Amino acid sequence: MEIAQNHSLKTLNTFGIAARAAFFARVETVRQLRQVLTSNIARTRPILVLGGGSNVVFTGTFAGLVIHNLIGGIDIIKEDGQQVLVAAGGGMVWHSLVEFALDKNLGGIENLSLIPGSVGAAPIQNIGAYGAELKDVFAYLEAVDLASGRQRLFTREECAFGYRNSIFKNELKDRFMITKVVLRLAKKPQVNISYGAIGEVLTASGITTPTIREVSEAVIAIRQSKLPDPARIGNAGSFFKNPVLDKIDYEGLKLEFSGIPGFPDNGSVKVPAAWLIEQCGWKGKRLGNVGVHDKQPLVLVNYGGGTGTEIVNLAADIKASVATKFGIELEPEPRII
Ligand code: FAD
Ligand code: EPU
Repeated sequence: MEIAQNHSLKTLNTFGIAARAAFFARVETVRQLRQVLTSNIARTRPILVLGGGSNVVFTGTFAGLVIHNLIGGIDIIKEDGQQVLVAAGGGMVWHSLVEFALDKNLGGIENLSLIPGSVGAAPIQNIGAYGAELKDVFAYLEAVDLASGRQRLFTREECAFGYRNSIFKNELKDRFMITKVVLRLAKKPQVNISYGAIGEVLTASGITTPTIREVSEAVIAIRQSKLPDPARIGNAGSFFKNPVLDKIDYEGLKLEFSGIPGFPDNGSVKVPAAWLIEQCGWKGKRLGNVGVHDKQPLVLVNYGGGTGTEIVNLAADIKASVATKFGIELEPEPRII
């Protein structure tokens, strides 16, 4: 297996940041991955697994080995009258798995249409959108231990999924490369159009009993109307998680800020960080090469030539002003490297 040196990551992160990796390898199979892991470089340097680069911020050269996961393949591995187990290689583009499911009329991931990135990264933060999360359809995953090269299976419980969270962001951070994800999809799909604008978009098109394809199209239309396309303007989607507050704290804030939105979340209240950031006057602001998107203030953008440090500094200023005004500590969603 070839390991390149001083490799550019500019086209491998959706912020379009001109970072480099001291060492870089592409792997298309588990066998190739194991070969890379036996190299001296892999044994002696930190390893970063990279998928689509849509949730990372590079602040400089990564001094270790970047392994670009390109493990492919999508297969139905088991089915009964109700359900299908679909296995996808970790290097597959997430939306190609959604397309596979839509083509076969298998329900469960249509609300997660068009989320950028790879299948292997989807469990890392338990991707979510429009009222659905990966964990709702997750069966198990296969991963390779980066230290020993051994393969291991993780069940749903073992992944410890939460809101934009899993064991792979905590205890097992940087310990495994996810090589395969297996989902349980429904042969008789039940659509979920209760979230946000999906229902309105469908009604406006005169659709009353939507198919999963129609739900997917509605989700895609909403996403394209709000979120900047990384091919045109660098970004990593939401830069901060939406804070989840105790009910009592939320009610306290409401006394002072009567317009503060809040959504019930397992007995707590999820507050849109976009609203907090907009209230602090950041929406549409530009500082040099970087800025805050004018349609979605939760999205930080690189207008071109911006550095990871500029992004991180802008995020720190936003975080400080939200903390001062509302007493809420925002937590970044992307991985800062
Ligand atoms: P990368 O950015 O390559 O990696 C992210 C992290 O995962 C890194 O820590 C990396 O080391 C680790 N990692 C990646 N692959 C593996 C692997 N195979 N094994 C182990 N570790 C791995 N996210 C949502 O949840 N919902 C959204 O609606 C959403 N919308 C977005 C919209 C836009 C325009 C953009 C740019 C991003 C959006 N995101 C969203 C964030 C992003 O798409 C997801 O986090 C996605 O899962 C990242 O995939 P990736 O392959 O690009 O991961
Ligand atoms: N809002 C404003 N001003 C704005 C835009 C939004 O105040 O300019 C407020 C409104 O109150 C609105 C609320 O924010 O109701 C929510 O906005 P939106 O529906 O756009 O969703 P979000 O909370 O900003 C979350 C996810 C997205 C996901 C969408 C749809 C997080 C951190 N972000 O965004 O995920 O696509 O919901 O489900 O949970 C990502 O993780 O990268 C991502 C894009």
